[in-house]
Amino acid sequence: MIKTTRIDGLQLIGNLPGLLSNAPDTLTNIAAKNKGVLRVGFSKDYFLFLTHPDQYKYVLKTNSANYPRGKSAADLKPILGNGIFISEDDDWKRQRHYLAPAFHTKFFEDFYPIVLDEVERFSVLLAASAAAGNRLNYSFELKKLAARISFRTMFVNDVNLLNDDLLHALDEIYENASFYKHSMRQAFKLLFRREDAFGYGSGVKPAFEMIDKTAWRIFERCESGESTPMEFIRVLLEETTAGRIPRQEAVDEIKNIIFAGYDTVGETLTWLWYCLSKEEKYTNRMREDIAAKCSGSAPTYDILPELSTLLMFIKETMRLYPVVWAFHRIAREDDEIEGYAVKKKEWIMMSPYVLHRNPELWPEPYKFNPLRFEGDNNPVPARYDYLPFGQGPHVCLGNRLGMFELQVIAGTLIQKYDFKYEREHPGIFADILIRQKNKLLMDVKKV
Ligand code: HEM
Repeated sequence: MIKTTRIDGLQLIGNLPGLLSNAPDTLTNIAAKNKGVLRVGFSKDYFLFLTHPDQYKYVLKTNSANYPRGKSAADLKPILGNGIFISEDDDWKRQRHYLAPAFHTKFFEDFYPIVLDEVERFSVLLAASAAAGNRLNYSFELKKLAARISFRTMFVNDVNLLNDDLLHALDEIYENASFYKHSMRQAFKLLFRREDAFGYGSGVKPAFEMIDKTAWRIFERCESGESTPMEFIRVLLEETTAGRIPRQEAVDEIKNIIFAGYDTVGETLTWLWYCLSKEEKYTNRMREDIAAKCSGSAPTYDILPELSTLLMFIKETMRLYPVVWAFHRIAREDDEIEGYAVKKKEWIMMSPYVLHRNPELWPEPYKFNPLRFEGDNNPVPARYDYLPFGQGPHVCLGNRLGMFELQVIAGTLIQKYDFKYEREHPGIFADILIRQKNKLLMDVKKV
């Protein structure tokens, strides 16, 4: 048996400010200096941190039955109920089975005009900003664009029930799950033996309620025939009408998709926009390539596989900025991960962000180089050194949809506009996702 490397005592105290303010980069530095499975934390409050793709493969796939999502999912249960993002075992299998068909690529042709319509709407905003010389807050506007598309493709093809308050509510819930807030909760629990001072139960209650109310209204409107359901809701109505699932479960699934599908695409777009503005050489090459194949129009659904420069650019953005920067599991029973002992109930932490910056896996990891992905035209490569969408049985259900949206949005807009971000880097702020510490305020001009 190989011994885990302990990151505790003085070494941990030295890293604590970094872990609280910027956990992704601090863990990257820790992993650069230590190999194997790392045990990070104090005597009773620690997690096992995986650093090698073989360890990831073992936990996410080979012996995934021993590694449910555990506490990280349980924390979100008050808001997400027992939907697919939270459920385990037979419940999860059953839910994945009835939901997966709604994500089939055969529906993308129906989604395509919706995405184009939203991109056109966004383009009007960009044209006005270019003409007036205003700077837009892309951190917010791109998220709004992604949310509108998600709402119209997944739920109902209008956005009457979507407003900015819902987006702010989501932000609040995500932020409450930051490393910093988690540590505050732990400290509070230890000092005052109370659970919920910084917890999901109190501070973010109004945000919970707003998401719950929106999900019920979507469901009830479709149930009564007032709105026409998109495929995802149609599946849920079919399941409830046949008596296979209760209405509460259907509403929980809607909340899970609001949670899993909005900010993920939105934040990836914001990082893509940052890379577009900074990586002029590749952006220009890609712009020429797309313009030659699409002649200034939006890329059609059929032409997407031919836009390899765009796909490589998106993949490289997601290597450096995999927005789901960490995910967790808990050990059901004692086990061994690639020779390292694991005890029942130990908390396992994995980070695509850290893995993607490992120089042994990715030479010159900090260099933006889309050519790393040359020749691989699969939008979601099945490999364990590259995990923006996770892997194994819980691999992201919306991965192809997310990639499709990113390709159409970026492929259309970069033919028309050029973006400039004047700061060196916006900084990293990590909660459940990685976001920009400073707003992405950009100059835009017509090409
Ligand atoms: C660029 C965009 C996206 C990224 C980076 C992303 C990332 C991820 C990751 C890393 C996981 C696995 C987490 C784990 O193993 O614990 C996941 C799961 C999931 N994602 Fe995504 N996601 C994206 C878009 C979407 C979209 C658009 C949807 C739906 C509309 C979606 C729905 C889900 C669901 C339902 C799961 C849970 C799957 C299961 O447990 O069976 N995601 N996502």
